[in-house]
Amino acid sequence: MYNLNEIKTLIENIKDPDLGVSLKELNGLQDINLDNNNLNISLLLPGPITYSKIDYEKIIISVLKEAGINITLNLKVEEKTENRIKERPGFLKKVKYIIAVASGKGGVGKSTISANLATELAKQGAKVGILDSDIYGPSQTIMFGVENEYMEAETDQHGHTKAFPVEKYGVKIASIGFVLNRRDAAGLRGPMLSNIFNSFYEQIDWGELDYLIFDLPPGTGDIHLTFAQRLQPDGIVLVTTPQEISLADVRRSAVFFKDKLNINVLGVVENMSYFVPPDMPEKKYYIFGQEGGKNIAIELGLLLLGEVPFNILMRETSDSGKPIVLREDGGTQKEVLKDVVANMISELRRKKYNNIENK
Ligand SMILES: Nc1ncnc2c1ncn2[C@@H]1O[C@H](COP(=O)(O)OP(=O)(O)OP(=O)(O)O)[C@@H](O)[C@H]1O
Ligand SMILES: [Mg+2]
Repeated sequence: MYNLNEIKTLIENIKDPDLGVSLKELNGLQDINLDNNNLNISLLLPGPITYSKIDYEKIIISVLKEAGINITLNLKVEEKTENRIKERPGFLKKVKYIIAVASGKGGVGKSTISANLATELAKQGAKVGILDSDIYGPSQTIMFGVENEYMEAETDQHGHTKAFPVEKYGVKIASIGFVLNRRDAAGLRGPMLSNIFNSFYEQIDWGELDYLIFDLPPGTGDIHLTFAQRLQPDGIVLVTTPQEISLADVRRSAVFFKDKLNINVLGVVENMSYFVPPDMPEKKYYIFGQEGGKNIAIELGLLLLGEVPFNILMRETSDSGKPIVLREDGGTQKEVLKDVVANMISELRRKKYNNIENK
């Protein structure tokens, strides 16, 4: 028979890998009991933990093993809920984490990266939505191959309309492309676009979501400002290519979100990092320069979430409506994008925890 107090101390001394703080300090051990050879533990931890790469089961078992304790573990890990989401408008109250993908410069791969982050999260079992907010050039309908579908909508007797996202690969997709075409959008001015945009996203009934990925238009304009103030996103992911012209814009975006609006910037994804010729897989060509993403991340004190190579398959998968993370032959990009998701969740956890601690 093992000593429960001894086990409890071992567990409480475990340091959370993201936060570097012990479970004791986190007050994370909610319940522990020993029933013959069954150890029942429930943990309550700062989120997001459910789809993070941290595997507490593995960690606990290895700590116990090291102490010579061989036992059957029944583990329950729950996430501390926050009051903050209740302040969000309308249907967004049911969304746990809102993450926006932004860039200073256009065409650097925001939509491609967003589509893959959302799909990867869904693949791991999370409830995910993606919102394409680029009024001038909606792309998520193409990335997910749902250009010909429509969002269902209904209006109640008080005149309140709600719209339902289209679903593909387990991702709920809403695009302003479903309701506004590019020609109509081109004639609209900033404030008016912000209005359309607000009424659009506040009417979408996502149901319960773990993550809502927001594919933002490039730049730091009216839409970004309204979005950030009203939706209080949990984090921003910045996408850049390695070249200086893109990096200059990333600097501006980082300052805008981080310093002006006080939003957590989770890191930088360097896209189109290098080209590997399919017929010479041992070679790497740094077409847009080398290590720009890494250097800017260091300069801005941000995490480099991943370096995504440039290749034909990535472009093809965007156009053909099936994100690369779902492809058997997705290669390096698939692996990198999986890491980007893991790094992003870890950083979100750290930033959120530190925000709360520093209050
Ligand atoms: N790593 C990559 N390898 C190959 N092609 C890519 C890669 N990333 C993006 N692309 C392609 O580059 C083009 C631009 O990408 P995307 O539309 O995702 O950029 P964006 O930043 O969302 O653009 P915009 O600013 O117009 O919204 C697309 O045709 C896409 O398929
Ligand atoms: Mg885009």
